[in-house]
Amino acid sequence: MDRRLIIAIDGYASCGKSTFARAIASELNYIYIDSGAMYRAVTLYCIRKGYLVGGEPRTERIIEDLAEIHISFIYNSDIGSYETFLNSENVEREIRSIEVSSFVSRISQIHEVRARMVELQRQIGVFKGIVMDGRDIGTVVFPDADLKIFMTASVDIRAKRRFDELRGRNIDVDLEEVRMNIISRDIADENRDISPLRRADDAIVLDNSRMTVAQQMEWVMKIISQKLNENRN
Ligand code: DC
Repeated sequence: MDRRLIIAIDGYASCGKSTFARAIASELNYIYIDSGAMYRAVTLYCIRKGYLVGGEPRTERIIEDLAEIHISFIYNSDIGSYETFLNSENVEREIRSIEVSSFVSRISQIHEVRARMVELQRQIGVFKGIVMDGRDIGTVVFPDADLKIFMTASVDIRAKRRFDELRGRNIDVDLEEVRMNIISRDIADENRDISPLRRADDAIVLDNSRMTVAQQMEWVMKIISQKLNENRN
């Protein structure tokens, strides 16, 4: 039987990681896990519970509740992709709001939150045949991943893409607000103490500023075929 790979995709906010990761998973018939959605779901839980007072998290309450926060991904065949569930409720749309986006960096800095998410991510990883995207997948979650890709693109291009995506989902946003949110999340992701965004030494860099998804797929499928062939020999 063919070996099934673990593919880790990390990079800056709104680089198209999830579009790319989803396309790879679909091509290979692998599971796709959006690790950012997990941090977003915890953030939504905290907002709803009133654990973000004036933007500052009530860390002790959040830690106490971690065992009650259940996150899962369920495949929706109508749209051909996975959706995020928080305690059995489909929150896929709500976790993409600008409110969640503006607090998620703060929540993802909490050590205990990260430890719990990493534990869940590794549990999913035992199945192999997965593509997971995030910020610390190749460095912390799966340091032995078979393929690591580090994605980047210019801030303006990323802002425009996220703006179009949100507008496409009928979420009302302002381009400059999206741009500022991306810049501040990049800064927070790269500078936090625990598991900051870093390129793993063995990750391949992909700057997709001027690439279509089809071009990115052509590029990555060559690399994946080589990996799978290497393993057969
Ligand atoms: O991929 P995303 O933009 O949906 O992720 C939302 C936030 O979650 C991001 O700003 C940082 C955090 N995150 C993280 O800290 N570690 C991950 N593996 C994935 C996301």
